[in-house]
Amino acid sequence: MQGKKVAIIGAGNVGSTVAYSLAMNGSCHEVILMDNKVDIAKGRALDMSQAAAVARSHTVVSVMENVEDLKDCDVIVITAGSPRKPGMSRDDLLLINAAVMKDIVTKIKIHSPNAILIIVSNPLDAMVYVALKCSGFPRSRVIGMAGLLDSARMASFIQEKLGFGAGQIRASVMGGHGDDMVPLPRYSTVAGYPLTDLLSEEDIEEVVERTRNGGAEIVKHLQTGSAYYAPAKATAVMAEAILKDTKQLHPCAVMLEGEYGYSDIVCGVPIRLGAGGMEEIFEITLNSCEKKMLQKSINSVQVLVNTLNENKFFDDAK
Ligand code: 2OP
Repeated sequence: MQGKKVAIIGAGNVGSTVAYSLAMNGSCHEVILMDNKVDIAKGRALDMSQAAAVARSHTVVSVMENVEDLKDCDVIVITAGSPRKPGMSRDDLLLINAAVMKDIVTKIKIHSPNAILIIVSNPLDAMVYVALKCSGFPRSRVIGMAGLLDSARMASFIQEKLGFGAGQIRASVMGGHGDDMVPLPRYSTVAGYPLTDLLSEEDIEEVVERTRNGGAEIVKHLQTGSAYYAPAKATAVMAEAILKDTKQLHPCAVMLEGEYGYSDIVCGVPIRLGAGGMEEIFEITLNSCEKKMLQKSINSVQVLVNTLNENKFFDDAK
């Protein structure tokens, strides 16, 4: 998309893979990487610019050293923060990454005030909440990446169980990006056919549990880091939906203002993504069991927000 500019703050595995994906697709005119490890970011940007030349893509990848230097970005992806280590929950990262997020968005607010923020740092829902409160941006412009990733993980586990259907599976996950996320088999299909007619209840329960632990399963294998190909691809798909104004429906983490009966809390829900960012939230019908799971998931996010409040985290963010 000619003229569009995307900045990626945090050029680790997730951030640089988002940049690579956008550059290969020619999704924007310019991708700017930013990282404390400036030399590594420079090396990666050079490598990606050369890959873009191989792919005959017009996207230029460069590096900036300070958030203060950002101007006129259409989309800013924030992946900065400590990644999960084996045995560590996403929540353990709360206070460390909240301080990083606050610092970044406070600067973005001054230097790129019209950007749409895609938040990727963990614990995801709490980080979206922090980004929203500390930037003062409208909720339509602060969107968390998680539901798309969790749904894709569920789709791949369904494919493994079935032994067929790759590329034809649409799985659905709502709620927070944590151990209490809410996979929705009733809203999952294979080539349009209901999953609930294709797999036994027992198999579906296994898929649901594996989806909830999908991130941890990868952390356990990698030992020194967490997943990045799928998180990055999910982020790039969200950025492309915004840059190209596709109006696609995706599950994303956004601030609720009465939807599903909740307010002042961030949760993964189906939304329409377009040039305006989050353009609409869809309230799908949930049965009583699904509602209970959503309540549990939202409670877990609320605990994190309460911890931030108890630490007077937002006192100077008004
Ligand atoms: C994941 O689920 C780290 O939250 C990230 O892979």
